[in-house]
Amino acid sequence: MSARPYPSPLRYPGGKLKVANYVKYLFEVNDLLDGDYAEPYAGGCSVAFSLLFGQYASRIFINDLDPAVYAFWHSVLNETEGLNRLITDATLDMTEWKRQRSIIIDPNVTMLERGFAAFYLNRANRSGIIMGGVIGGQDQSGNWKIDARFNKRELIRRIQKIARHRDVIHLSNLDASVFLAEVVPTMDVRSLTYLDPPYYVKGQGLYANAYDKDDHAAVAAQVSALDKPWLVSYDDTPKIIELYPNFRRLQYGLTYSAQERRKGGEVMFFSDGLVVPENITNPSEVSTQEILNLLNH
Ligand SMILES: C[S@@+](CC[C@H](N)C(=O)[O-])C[C@H]1O[C@@H](n2cnc3c(N)ncnc32)[C@H](O)[C@@H]1O
Repeated sequence: MSARPYPSPLRYPGGKLKVANYVKYLFEVNDLLDGDYAEPYAGGCSVAFSLLFGQYASRIFINDLDPAVYAFWHSVLNETEGLNRLITDATLDMTEWKRQRSIIIDPNVTMLERGFAAFYLNRANRSGIIMGGVIGGQDQSGNWKIDARFNKRELIRRIQKIARHRDVIHLSNLDASVFLAEVVPTMDVRSLTYLDPPYYVKGQGLYANAYDKDDHAAVAAQVSALDKPWLVSYDDTPKIIELYPNFRRLQYGLTYSAQERRKGGEVMFFSDGLVVPENITNPSEVSTQEILNLLNH
């Protein structure tokens, strides 16, 4: 397998970079090139950055309700130099880790302090879980230590690249339902909104997930009424499939790593009118070559 350039400085277990090529494919076949792209549940934003850096989307709209995740992206876009200075100067040890843990739960810190703490803990903790345990354990006796995923130079490079695109990145900190009601209508008609909500079957607490059955149903109702193209992905469970009875869907297997590797079935639903390539049965396995073939057609 070829190395895939990883555009996001955040680690996001279950992150959707694997479907980025598929979403690019959808941009091509639906004549959306240079249009807008939105993620109401952005997390690590890696699909959005892939589309932006690959010049598929001309503007991206990224939104996340989690205050720590939002503070990080806000710092990347608005306090780039300050953030990069903190990263350059960061000490990777348990004293600093404990200090960052106290900052992340302190409501009175600045946006930059919260954003940096989110980043520090995401890079220093097992599976990137901000409120989780540190790599190597509290006594740092494991084979991998707190700094195992903290390549300062590479992470700063990613942050600088994103910041250079700040004029076309629209960041918000809204509940997804507010984002759908207020931001999506402001986007170009040539746009795609990709929703990757918290899983229905709650995982290992990878990120804030306060959604219950009714919230998932409310999202489904709101999405069904959108008048712009959309795509939703979920863990493949009958309860979710019941929520989107009138839409085309694709069920596929996805391997991801969080604490341990395991296979998780996923499902995607598509808005009416969106051209969905029938030859692709697994959106997480679209190669770059397949996209090039399409372009040269
Ligand atoms: C499954 S993750 C998205 C992962 C992302 N697709 C990626 O590749 O990194 C879901 C995200 O939704 C956010 N979230 C949870 N509830 C939300 C809500 N009501 N509105 C907006 N974002 C929410 C979480 O903070 C989390 O970052």
